[in-house]
Amino acid sequence: MNSDYRDSGLVFPPNFIVGSATAAYQVEGAARDGGRTESIWDTFSHTPGKTWNGDTGDVADDHYYRLESDLDLMAELGLDAYRFSISWPRFQPGGQGPINPEGVSFYSRLVDGLLSRGIRPIATLYHWDLPQELEDEGGWPERDTAMWFAEYAELAATALGDRVHTWTTLNEPWCSAYLGYGSASHAPGRTSDADALAAVHHLNLAHGMAVPRIREAATNSPQVSATLNFHVIRGEDAEAKRRIDALANRAFTSPMLLGRYDDDFIADTSEVTDWSFVHAGDLATIHQPLDFLGVNYYSTVTVKMWDGVSERAMNDGHKDMGGSAWPGSRNVEFLPQAGPYTAMNWNIAPDGLEDLLVDLSERFPDLPLMITENGAAFDDEVTDGRVHDADRVDYLNRHFTAAHRAMQRGVNLQGYLVWSLLDNFEWGYGYSKRFGIVRVDYDTQERIVKDSGLWVSEVAKNKATPA
Ligand code: NOJ
Repeated sequence: MNSDYRDSGLVFPPNFIVGSATAAYQVEGAARDGGRTESIWDTFSHTPGKTWNGDTGDVADDHYYRLESDLDLMAELGLDAYRFSISWPRFQPGGQGPINPEGVSFYSRLVDGLLSRGIRPIATLYHWDLPQELEDEGGWPERDTAMWFAEYAELAATALGDRVHTWTTLNEPWCSAYLGYGSASHAPGRTSDADALAAVHHLNLAHGMAVPRIREAATNSPQVSATLNFHVIRGEDAEAKRRIDALANRAFTSPMLLGRYDDDFIADTSEVTDWSFVHAGDLATIHQPLDFLGVNYYSTVTVKMWDGVSERAMNDGHKDMGGSAWPGSRNVEFLPQAGPYTAMNWNIAPDGLEDLLVDLSERFPDLPLMITENGAAFDDEVTDGRVHDADRVDYLNRHFTAAHRAMQRGVNLQGYLVWSLLDNFEWGYGYSKRFGIVRVDYDTQERIVKDSGLWVSEVAKNKATPA
């Protein structure tokens, strides 16, 4: 790792947004309350063997019932912005038909509570909790799911768009498609390469159908975006890099930002699917002007073509649950990378963030960027009622430094949202991985601001990293 990412005392522009992020299923709990119906993550986490320790989001951080005190905590930290997600099955039970007044009221109180504390709400419409009923009808491999999503997006923008100014359609569609329908490590836990690629397209379509509906329904001159998790790909093997870039990155950026699927992506996957689910006009629908692009970044991957003989290295940072997250590229291997590592075993590589931001801004010069997630899991300890998470502070310091450098190199970066505000349900890893800048004691639901929370608070308040 590049040790010169340790700079400190960096000054950010006065309007630079420093905040934090969560997602509904990871923090809300109240899974059966307030008219919420089940999502694919309820089903998945309640299926034995799918999550660490059988953990579920039933209670999570009990944020649904602790909304006011959690809002006070955000205000205490001086956050400029809070990125949350709207639970589709809480907002619109079953994913079709009327909205749920209790669900709408929860998000309305959340938004009002943020605004009254001077915190900008950033609403994500889909952070992986597909209503189970829509999965029962085929889920993301089906075209109708995109249509239902656009309906829901319009309803959400109608209900909250007088106060929410900043919207994200999808969070990390890469995970929804490839981990949900390919590798089975995420809900709904299916293992079909063809379905994973159909899901890619229908997620892209859902985004494209939703954007104009949000713009029409929201009355607060909405800023609309998508949030993508980019694979920053290292290695000497150009062919392996090209393949993974096509599948992981360009599968989303090319249709959303350029209005096309790249020929090499279609060719690489032609043995898996004939792409007949792409209808005339779809790419024009998907290609919508965006106000900014949300960037989630945690670490890098290093790839090489596999010789087909030796044991295939699969250090891609994702659990293997029997399927492949790489349809059409099973002949690529993911090599172990140099440490240090976080508790997820992800390598710490702030240079990857700088490279990514610079690369995106060179390829899409008119598109402002926002870091919608960056952060780290570590095995925190409580000492005398405090959490001295020096490793997380160091991680954040290095990555804020990387972002600052990218800005000095001309990147139009509007903000930085740290994942996560609270320790929470880390999907397949359950509660075993803590990403919070605030600790949650899952027995008592007590919150303790970690040293990293104090650090983020300083950066948000001073628009500078501590010297
Ligand atoms: C990306 C996801 O959006 C979020 O839900 C997850 O907890 C973090 N990465 C950490 O894995």
